[in-house]
Amino acid sequence: MQRTGLAIRLADMKIGNLILKNPLVLAPMAGVTDLPFRLMIKGMGAALVCSEMVSANGLFRNNRRSLEMLCSHPAEKPVSFQIFGSEPAAMAHAAAIVAEKGADVIDINMGCAVRKIVKNGAGVALMEQPEQAKRVMAAVRGATDRPVTVKIRSGFDPDGGRALLIARMAQDQGLDAVTVHPRTAGQGFSGRADWSVIARVARALSIPVIGNGDIVKPADAALMMESTGCAGAMIGRAAWGNPWIFSQSLDFLADLSPKEPEPTMRQELMKAFASDCAAHYGQTHACRILRSRLTWFVKGLPEARRFRDSITRIETLEQAFNLVDEYFDSIAAGEGALAKDF
Ligand SMILES: Cc1cc2nc3c(=O)[nH]c(=O)nc-3n(C[C@H](O)[C@H](O)[C@H](O)COP(=O)(O)O)c2cc1C
Repeated sequence: MQRTGLAIRLADMKIGNLILKNPLVLAPMAGVTDLPFRLMIKGMGAALVCSEMVSANGLFRNNRRSLEMLCSHPAEKPVSFQIFGSEPAAMAHAAAIVAEKGADVIDINMGCAVRKIVKNGAGVALMEQPEQAKRVMAAVRGATDRPVTVKIRSGFDPDGGRALLIARMAQDQGLDAVTVHPRTAGQGFSGRADWSVIARVARALSIPVIGNGDIVKPADAALMMESTGCAGAMIGRAAWGNPWIFSQSLDFLADLSPKEPEPTMRQELMKAFASDCAAHYGQTHACRILRSRLTWFVKGLPEARRFRDSITRIETLEQAFNLVDEYFDSIAAGEGALAKDF
């Protein structure tokens, strides 16, 4: 791959007293970044992986599902656990719990734009209530000596002024890094992320700023860091089915040619991921999840539709393995090589 004269090179990143071996971070994604997914991405070289968002109120009420989300493994460390809520006391309580459960970083969610969360004054709604946002950040900061970070959006207006205000506030409250996903609340995940907002925040802060949004190709992380001055790059959706985006982005940062995975590597990774899901959730629950998750890995490959149709019926891990093997055997044999399914 042709480099475009980018000056950014592979370097570590410091969040509070935590030194990360490179600047690449897995984005928190509800319903995606559970323990098996995080372990897979760690294996691809991400320096920091983030949990799904966990409800502070859920932790307060000892909700079983919220507590299960705190399940971790030494192999994924360092790991960031993200909490959401609008009440300072509940958020402080949640921070203490996640720290006790082994979080190396505690991240405050101020970016979620889902109606149910916003209605309760949490997620991106906090960006509309700066005083409440400040109280939440101060409470979490006071509850733990672990690094505390916050993930924000542009705000409600595209100009990003609110992002700047909240980011400065985070620094003043003693937080250790700010992640900026430069889309407005109304945008959800549509339209382009406006990287100029990341640049404005990065220029204004002395703590690290992690940029996020629309990193899809191996060159994009370096491009974002170079063009915005951010210290780290967070990758979300591009990692679904293409966890190699991390190793490829690292290759690019190291001035190496990013390597495309061989089909056998994809096949083995899919089976390893399926095994990890079964170990984590039990076979029945894992198969329900894998019916969609395994399809991510074949997007854009020949005969993807046939694989998608067959995988929706799996009940056992053995069936999943067999279907994965059959699929890769069939594409290796060249069957339907012309029937590309995008
Ligand atoms: C399915 C899904 C779930 C998400 N869940 C969270 C979440 O729990 N917490 C959060 O801060 N952001 C969440 N996000 C936003 C991502 O962290 C990220 O900001 C967004 O996807 C933009 O990055 P990308 O272009 O690399 O995907 C979610 C995004 C998606 C698509």
